[in-house]
Amino acid sequence: METKLSNVEGFVRPEVRKLVPYQTKHMPECIKLDANENPFPWPAGMREALFSQELAFNRYPDGMGTELKTCIAKYTGISSEGILIGNGSDELIQLILLTFGGLGKSMIIHPPTFGMYQIYARLTETTVVEVPLLNGLDLDTEQMLKAAQVPEAHVCIVCNPNNPTGSLFPREEILRLVRESGKIVVVDEAYAEFAEETLIPEIENYPNLVILRTFSKAFGMAGLRLGYLLGQPQTIALINRVRPPFNVNLFSQKAGILSLDYLSEYQGQIEQIKAETKKLQTALKLVPDLTVYPTRANFILFKPNDPDRWASEFLKRGFLVRNMGMLPSLGKCLRISAGLPEENERFIRAVREISAL
Ligand SMILES: Cc1ncc(COP(=O)(O)O)c(C=O)c1O
Repeated sequence: METKLSNVEGFVRPEVRKLVPYQTKHMPECIKLDANENPFPWPAGMREALFSQELAFNRYPDGMGTELKTCIAKYTGISSEGILIGNGSDELIQLILLTFGGLGKSMIIHPPTFGMYQIYARLTETTVVEVPLLNGLDLDTEQMLKAAQVPEAHVCIVCNPNNPTGSLFPREEILRLVRESGKIVVVDEAYAEFAEETLIPEIENYPNLVILRTFSKAFGMAGLRLGYLLGQPQTIALINRVRPPFNVNLFSQKAGILSLDYLSEYQGQIEQIKAETKKLQTALKLVPDLTVYPTRANFILFKPNDPDRWASEFLKRGFLVRNMGMLPSLGKCLRISAGLPEENERFIRAVREISAL
């Protein structure tokens, strides 16, 4: 029989036809200050403890993540029934929208904020409603509440501290949104360990409040893809319906369990990262014609007079920084995260060189 030449593109869903694949930079030869990671190696002994375990990789992992959830419960004070684990917190954003979003439903975000919310909205056919931050930095609670009034608004995402601005929003403002909107309010606390502020204790008061956390930042496990979602058990049970059965692999589960035995070592790293962030901030503030925004996370947003030129000058000197492009109200900005102390010293020297060009 004759083989038909199939028009594969013709079968693609219309939403997918419009998508451009997400591009990530992988430049291991550079000093990476572009992804808000923890630059320190794991606490001493943790790697050895993890690699010396007998792990049955020929078997599927515990799909419920029972032991990991027990450890997260101890760390957060939320019972296991109120925890969902994910293949990075990225996956959990998708699961939230698969549960509460979709065609004809909308999600409210506050640009500038984390770009993956938009991407998962597109994948789940959820409409995005943008309520820009006031002056690019502060939550516009009034306008968010207004946007939440329509019945199709189901989800509202607050990123706290916010990526990429570093702003920490007042907890009362977020709680007002939770109380008065009545919608599903997701508070993304990816950087909470650096800000040392969390809304976790409020979960017991609000069935519509869910909190996203990750092991990628303070716990230095970006490469292992491990995140979790906290909420009231009935809310978590709904989202659990759309979770793939074995979404978190065995190795990442074990690493997560182990890391929570090293909290005091991680706390030491967090303190160091905070001190390094301050050092970078102070150095950047000394540069003329450069705006530096306040931060409560492990990264800094700043605006030189020619961000594209600065980004390429950094790259020439071996530093990968995040060129944020055009941000609402703020214009073109760059974002850097704190590296190792010696990397930061070199970075500060590069800043002085570039500003003198
Ligand atoms: C605000 C925010 N949320 C979520 C994530 C994703 O984290 P994960 O590595 O857990 O998918 C990031 C990563 O940069 C982030 O900045």
